[in-house]
Amino acid sequence: MSRTAPYSRYLLPVVAQGLEPIVVASASGRTVVDVDGTEYLDCFSGISVVNAGHNHPRILAAARAQMDKLVHAASCIYHVPVVGQLAEQLARIVPTSTAASTTHSAEPPATKAFFCNSGAEANEGAMRLAKQHTGRREIVALAYGFHGRTIGTLSITGNVARKKNNGPYLSGVAFGPAPYCYRCPLNLKYPSCDLACASALNDTIRVQTSGDVAAFVVEPILGEGGIITPPADYLTLAGSIMHEHGALLIIDEVQTGFGRTGRMFGVEHSPNVTVDIMTMAKGIAAGFPLGAFSATEKIAEAMKSGDHLSTFGGNPIACAAALANIAVLQDEGMIENTNQRGGELMTRCQAMADKHMLIGEVRGRGLMIGLELVKDRTSKEPAAAEAKMVRAKMRERGILVGIGGVFGNVVRLQPPLSITADECDRLATTLDSVLDLLGV
Ligand SMILES: Cc1ncc(COP(=O)(O)O)c(C=O)c1O
Repeated sequence: MSRTAPYSRYLLPVVAQGLEPIVVASASGRTVVDVDGTEYLDCFSGISVVNAGHNHPRILAAARAQMDKLVHAASCIYHVPVVGQLAEQLARIVPTSTAASTTHSAEPPATKAFFCNSGAEANEGAMRLAKQHTGRREIVALAYGFHGRTIGTLSITGNVARKKNNGPYLSGVAFGPAPYCYRCPLNLKYPSCDLACASALNDTIRVQTSGDVAAFVVEPILGEGGIITPPADYLTLAGSIMHEHGALLIIDEVQTGFGRTGRMFGVEHSPNVTVDIMTMAKGIAAGFPLGAFSATEKIAEAMKSGDHLSTFGGNPIACAAALANIAVLQDEGMIENTNQRGGELMTRCQAMADKHMLIGEVRGRGLMIGLELVKDRTSKEPAAAEAKMVRAKMRERGILVGIGGVFGNVVRLQPPLSITADECDRLATTLDSVLDLLGV
């Protein structure tokens, strides 16, 4: 049997089809190695997960030490020290409304965390909590947003490509327009638009809901939607509008969290946003499966004992890895590096956009950069096949990049936050030569 055969024979076709033709044997830092010893520069981080790099020695040591002591105890039934320690650390760094002003104090605010296993599970729990706290039942989300693949999270996902063949979804969900400046749904231009897409949330509530909105669920950057990057003041206005309607603000930091955008959390780019609940996963534990949501003390009180639980949630090994991961991000200069390297990479990509007509727009923050490819700059016809070609040609040259976007036409550059200047240069130079090769 070939090395790839077990996947095609024994995994669901939904997994086996469309896989990249690489059989991964090991990884370290920014390097992924296949079973034949071929090395790849990883510029997708396992879908934006290994922010601190693959197999970071400090994170592995913390996980190993924990594994020697305790693998599982059901941390929702018994006290496990490392779980409490991680919750305390999250209370320090998560900018919920009570935490914002006291982030650096010795005693963190009593922001409360709940641990689970994935981004979807975190969003499910966050919605439950918002409903219980407000006594309301409806949710507002955004067109082109993505929040997971459970029925509840698909119901608030604004992308037919993710939802097809599974409807009908849950009722009580309304969608606001995407803050997608390159393809503005209102045909306006920032800043003269005065953030009309945020103001339109008033209409979303008036027209599509019964006024019983528990929460607005929103990503600071719409990652799967195509690294759609709203102006920083979008979240400020959208958040205050939703608060005026009595809805809570659930910030989905599953993809933007843990340094990815050049701040610990993506919402920190937007001034004066009162975060009620924040959801996290992906970059929280450098590859160990862990999800979480954090809420202010007052909101968290709405869930009473037995209202919510996750058997594996708060696994001690994953929590130990997350604690070490946060320490690595903070004291190995990774967030500073994200700003430095991200800035350089953005400049290089923008220079490519001047040269290659295929690039319609370059956008993002920190090391979360998207290049939206179009067949024609006037019609903006999405160039999805070309995006796939770019990914394949990059792989042939030893570099892994992602693709995404509602039209499948966005090349995603999301390397580990430890990427060096030389590696960034290699990424940009190779991308430029691949675009040269495509002749556009
Ligand atoms: C913003 C966002 N929310 C939620 C999810 C779902 O996370 P998971 O795949 O861990 O369930 C994703 C995954 O891509 C995401 O990008």
